[in-house]
Amino acid sequence: MDSIIRLKDISFAYNKKMVFQNVDFVVNPGERIGLIGPNGSGKTTLLQIIMGLLKPQRGTIEVFGKMRKTDADFLEVRRKIGFLFQNSENQLFCPTVKEDIAFGPLNLGKSKDEALRIVKETCDILGLNGLEDMVTHKLSGGEKRLVALATVIAMKPLCFLLDEPSAELDEDAIERVLSYLKNYASTYVVVSHDKRFIEAATEKIYILKDGKLRLLT
Ligand SMILES: Nc1ncnc2c1ncn2[C@@H]1O[C@H](COP(=O)(O)OP(=O)(O)OP(=O)(O)O)[C@@H](O)[C@H]1O
Ligand SMILES: [Mg+2]
Repeated sequence: MDSIIRLKDISFAYNKKMVFQNVDFVVNPGERIGLIGPNGSGKTTLLQIIMGLLKPQRGTIEVFGKMRKTDADFLEVRRKIGFLFQNSENQLFCPTVKEDIAFGPLNLGKSKDEALRIVKETCDILGLNGLEDMVTHKLSGGEKRLVALATVIAMKPLCFLLDEPSAELDEDAIERVLSYLKNYASTYVVVSHDKRFIEAATEKIYILKDGKLRLLT
């Protein structure tokens, strides 16, 4: 089967500040990948390039077997790949938790009843029951992270790109996220500084450091 994501020879700089050069990165169906590296090494930047949120100065991006260049090319990518932002504030924009989680399914054409069923199912998975009617911006940091993750899971993506999924989560919440990933998510890239989480969730680990990406295990 074709790879889901294939980056070739990607170089990226913010203005004149080079972040990384000549990066090749492939995600095949069924792969559970960890991406580690020091603060500022470019992990978030790399995920944003895959989603088409940043454009590299050099290199090609192939997702689901198609070259992706224009914003229109990335619409399908954003529908089918679930991206958890490092900062949950960037992910949540509806008044309530329920509306935020239902937004993606409704946007994909699901009925209101079906969307509400997905909200319930997703809240059960992540232990968010009882928070459905809460005003999103009043939630705690960890609760916001879980709701952001819920909005991603609710889309039932074919592949996940998760930027620091365990940040601010307590032990029980981390276990729920791990259990979901292991049992229901087959293909994903997890960026994390949490070594225990990366080791438990992934089977192949890359390190981004000094502008280069290399396979660690
Ligand atoms: N919008 C921007 N404009 C200019 N420089 C930026 C911008 N966003 C990020 N950078 C710089 O690019 C580098 C890579 O940032 P990035 O957020 O990808 O790192 P990261 O590996 O995700 O770090 P962390 O582990 O802290 O999340 C950093 O040095 C950062 O300061
Ligand atoms: Mg980051």
